[in-house]
Amino acid sequence: MLQRLVAAGGSVPFSTFMDWALHDPDHGAYGSGRLRIGPDGDFTTAPSLGADFAALLAPQIAEWLQELQAHRPADQPLALVESGPGEGSLAADLAEALAVGWPDLAARCELVLVEPNAGMAARQRQRLAGCPFPCRWASFAQLAKAPPWGVLLAHEVLDALPVERIQWDGQRWRRQQVVLLEQAGAGALLRLEPGEPLAPELAAPLEDLGLLPPSPQRPAGWCTELHPGLEPWLAAAASALAAGPLLVIDYALEAWRYYAPQRSCGTLLAYRGQQATADPLLAPGEADLTAHLCIESVMRAAGATGWEALGQARQGAALLALGLAERLHALQQQPARDLASLLAQREALLRLVDPHALGDFRWLAFNRGLPLARPRFLREPELTPP
Ligand SMILES: C[S@@+](CC[C@H](N)C(=O)[O-])C[C@H]1O[C@@H](n2cnc3c(N)ncnc32)[C@H](O)[C@@H]1O
Repeated sequence: MLQRLVAAGGSVPFSTFMDWALHDPDHGAYGSGRLRIGPDGDFTTAPSLGADFAALLAPQIAEWLQELQAHRPADQPLALVESGPGEGSLAADLAEALAVGWPDLAARCELVLVEPNAGMAARQRQRLAGCPFPCRWASFAQLAKAPPWGVLLAHEVLDALPVERIQWDGQRWRRQQVVLLEQAGAGALLRLEPGEPLAPELAAPLEDLGLLPPSPQRPAGWCTELHPGLEPWLAAAASALAAGPLLVIDYALEAWRYYAPQRSCGTLLAYRGQQATADPLLAPGEADLTAHLCIESVMRAAGATGWEALGQARQGAALLALGLAERLHALQQQPARDLASLLAQREALLRLVDPHALGDFRWLAFNRGLPLARPRFLREPELTPP
């Protein structure tokens, strides 16, 4: 990291720093495969809490795959594609759930993992060694050469796309730089500084996001993030599928909340050893760096790249529509199981819908290339007669 900064002249835009800190093949947190996901790792995600998350999502995925199966030409492949699979837990548990619940569909399907970091892909290969249907790793560009009809999942991956940090200096927006400071006897220090005024192509969304005209409620020094990586990612994702839905699940806020004057330092956090800090420079390459999504920015980038919006929900509501309450209730009907594991499973299910944590995640669904029914996770839960 320091060598790269020296080679770049001692300072780079924050987005470049974030890219290196996450993706450098030797020193990046994901590139090296150093980060561990799960309750015993650096941070916890919904799929890393156990197989319940995938089991609840599986009927939605199966319904989409059935719709694709009904429309696709016979010679076109059918795929479940996951971008940013982390430890591979969601892909592995979903493949298992599909093979058990929808074996005919699973027999026609392949699993494709899109993972740019060799260190993470190595662990995914181990986790998916017993995958019940064909499984391969490919980039969006490779998929685009013979795009399958498929369902694309992006669980907590868009929050890892490098963001641009911008700072108001009282007169104009500036792009923050990470600067290397050499201090005699104290080694190298990194500092965030307001850099060049924002270039016109980066400044374009400011008005839509309510950041122009300037408001006196945002004093000099107020900073936030922009998401220039969203549109390229969504464009590449669109070309990787012949047709099918995209489900983005992530931390996300409406623009009015994201860019509210009182949120004076954006949403960027660094995670390591289950601790979160707002200082992204503390342990470059050792910590996850993550910023929330802005819902309007995702919607706009999706529309510009050919995705039609299917709808959105908070995770708590989505999982209740998919049967989480029934699953909780069914736990009580399992007297043969030991109490400790029952309680742990119950706790994990409740964490998925906790409105102050994972339950506030957003599910944003998009589609391209064929008509699809209203997603199951947006429908009212079906009531079973007493
Ligand atoms: C926060 S982890 C999420 C892992 C998993 N989806 C989960 O929720 O447990 C982010 C994952 O996305 C990968 N990743 C980062 N940037 C990516 C990109 N541009 N395309 C695809 N994967 C990416 C990382 O290597 C890592 O596997």
